Amino acid sequence: MARKLIAAGNWKMNTTVEEGISLARKVAEASRNNKVLTILAVPHTHLFPVSKKIKASSGVRLAAQNCHHKTSGAFTGEISPAMISSLKITYVVIGHSERREYNHEDNALLALKTRAALDAGLKVIFCCGEALDIRKSDSHVAHVKNQLSESLFMLSATEMKNIVIAYEPIWAIGTGETATPEQAQEMHFAIREMLRKKYGKRVAENTSILYGGSVKGSNAAELFSQPDVDGGLVGGASLNADEFVTIVNSFGRKAG
Ligand code: 13P
Repeated sequence: MARKLIAAGNWKMNTTVEEGISLARKVAEASRNNKVLTILAVPHTHLFPVSKKIKASSGVRLAAQNCHHKTSGAFTGEISPAMISSLKITYVVIGHSERREYNHEDNALLALKTRAALDAGLKVIFCCGEALDIRKSDSHVAHVKNQLSESLFMLSATEMKNIVIAYEPIWAIGTGETATPEQAQEMHFAIREMLRKKYGKRVAENTSILYGGSVKGSNAAELFSQPDVDGGLVGGASLNADEFVTIVNSFGRKAG
């Protein structure tokens, strides 16, 4: 089984429900390349209404942007993995750098969240990536390795089938500064090597690794053409339907 090509949009805390429905509809209508999996990570308030408005046949899948690590309980304002899967939502994003920074989510907590999400039947888009000072000190590969070792590598090889990894260098998120295709490829290759060492060739070859950080219609094709880049996790540019559809259609020969 070859790994999936994925164009994922992360809307973050943007759009009203009405705007979100309109955006998702436009994306769903245009995303008919069945070789590319399109995922929209929408705000929690949008999961149900958007899921009702896009046809399953469009091939577009939805993701929650976060979940709690407990099944239920006195956690005001939180949302459990079971609540998300009860809406027939497929994915949840875990470990985004904004949640690591603003909500102080560390690797140990992200391991618990990943466990809880998989137990509830969700697939996980697990984010990793280094800050600028780490990149400048040339310890970015070691940093990402540590993030994955402490949060993901307790999973079994079978469970890894339900994991998508998103490499998002923090210095490239929302800054307009994109990693070069070579920088992205270097890290994606390194991540695949980590997977190979931990789980063997099969898991390494079958795990989709997405790049995130200022992906746009104008740079997606070059990034996605790298051998170990299986797609993108797109913030700002996913809020514009035309721009995002351009990104969905940027896989060139990989998507046949
Ligand atoms: P931008 O595409 O806006 O840089 O955001 C990337 C991101 O954080 C996706 O999760």
